[in-house]
Amino acid sequence: MMVDQQAGASNADGLDAAAHDDGHMDLSDHDSFTGGIPHRTFERLRAEDPVHWTPEHDGGRGFWSVTGHADIMTANGNNAVFSSGQGIRIEDQSHAEYMARRTFQETDPPEHRQTRRFLNPVFSRPAIARYEELVRSLAADIVEQAFARDEFDAVDALAKQLPMMMLGRILGVPDADLPFLVEKGDALIGNSDPDFTDTIIDKADTDAYRFMPFRSPAGAELYDYAQAVMDGHKEVDPEGILARVLGANSEQGVMEARDFKNFFCLLVAAGNDTTRYSIAMALYQLTRDPALLQQMQAGAVWNTVSDEFIRLASPTMYFRRTATEDTELGGKAIAKGDKVILWFVSGNRDQRVFEDPHGVNLARDPNPHLAFGQGGVHLCLGMWLARMEVRVLLEEIAGRISGIEALGAPTWTRSNFICGVKSLPVRIRR
Ligand code: HEM
Repeated sequence: MMVDQQAGASNADGLDAAAHDDGHMDLSDHDSFTGGIPHRTFERLRAEDPVHWTPEHDGGRGFWSVTGHADIMTANGNNAVFSSGQGIRIEDQSHAEYMARRTFQETDPPEHRQTRRFLNPVFSRPAIARYEELVRSLAADIVEQAFARDEFDAVDALAKQLPMMMLGRILGVPDADLPFLVEKGDALIGNSDPDFTDTIIDKADTDAYRFMPFRSPAGAELYDYAQAVMDGHKEVDPEGILARVLGANSEQGVMEARDFKNFFCLLVAAGNDTTRYSIAMALYQLTRDPALLQQMQAGAVWNTVSDEFIRLASPTMYFRRTATEDTELGGKAIAKGDKVILWFVSGNRDQRVFEDPHGVNLARDPNPHLAFGQGGVHLCLGMWLARMEVRVLLEEIAGRISGIEALGAPTWTRSNFICGVKSLPVRIRR
């Protein structure tokens, strides 16, 4: 029997059946996201108040919610005024906390440029294209192993595996360490979700971890791992990114020790869950609409498939900027120091840019979505890798089954930062 909490909905986002979202959800509250992305709320804001002052329910100083595609692009393209240099999540940090935890993602040009220039060649489209054969063989193994059974959890068995394995190859760490790194990465980025951490950011006293990434104890464990790599106590692949950064450090001074540890945490956090939740979104949509699998099997949509599922998933729902001067955005007066939240997830449903924004259109082209932070200098470093992983895994799946159905409702992350389907019981038909 097919069970779906949003069955009967007319579109991919299930707006018609989204009982959890009354259009007035509190975007500062992680609990507003446990039933799925509150699209109805975002839709109302885009229509009524696209740059919306949002109080923080836990006593924070509040922030501007930027929800329209054009305003997000404007702010993201102007880092002199909308800076990443005071933190990129809603949480406020003291200067000392910011300095202890920051990565190059939390800097502006020109400082941002040096690290980015060093990393670009490793993650460029042609560099990543060279991994395709490896990605395909890993994907084929994952799919074969999952399909040894007819019923399984699609996130654990399919979505989680490939990003983890490829991150291991890119970093150059031993395969045996991957489950540990993924568990800690989940705890960092899922710091508000009881399934991923016991130290829940808005419920526990996290003061002791304020100098750790994501104010999380998992940050300390990842720091220790990075320290072991730096001290030569952990054997890493000399071709991997960790060895290359450390080698370059001695020659070009790319990163200080503290920056290296934070960079390591950033990759472990950014490289895993985002791609996992994009694949999970694809699988969820396949369970909702059998025609999607048929379209993929017909073959014409493989160039556009990844971006459409990544648009729908928008796993990192927002990144924050801070105004460096009094300014104006979308007709609102923004004061110097205000927090400005760019809700990429909302821009990706903007009906002024996307026809049928809540629908799945596997052939959507162009697809000017913002899920990778398009339009800004922080444009996702891993986007070519993520796109390839999503496509190749789906190709391997589509070549082996005639159908996939949900055996229960998906569960969603408890977070207003990272969104995704955490579990999805499915049955496949060969
Ligand atoms: C579908 C998967 C992914 C999504 C949706 C995603 C999303 C994003 C977004 C929105 C940004 C911009 C942040 C900002 O504006 O401040 C970003 C930056 C970044 N991403 Fe991704 N990401 C994905 C996969 C990956 C992967 C696989 C890696 C690494 C292996 C990665 C590494 C990074 C890094 C290092 C940055 C910072 C770049 C900079 O500051 O210059 N991401 N990502």
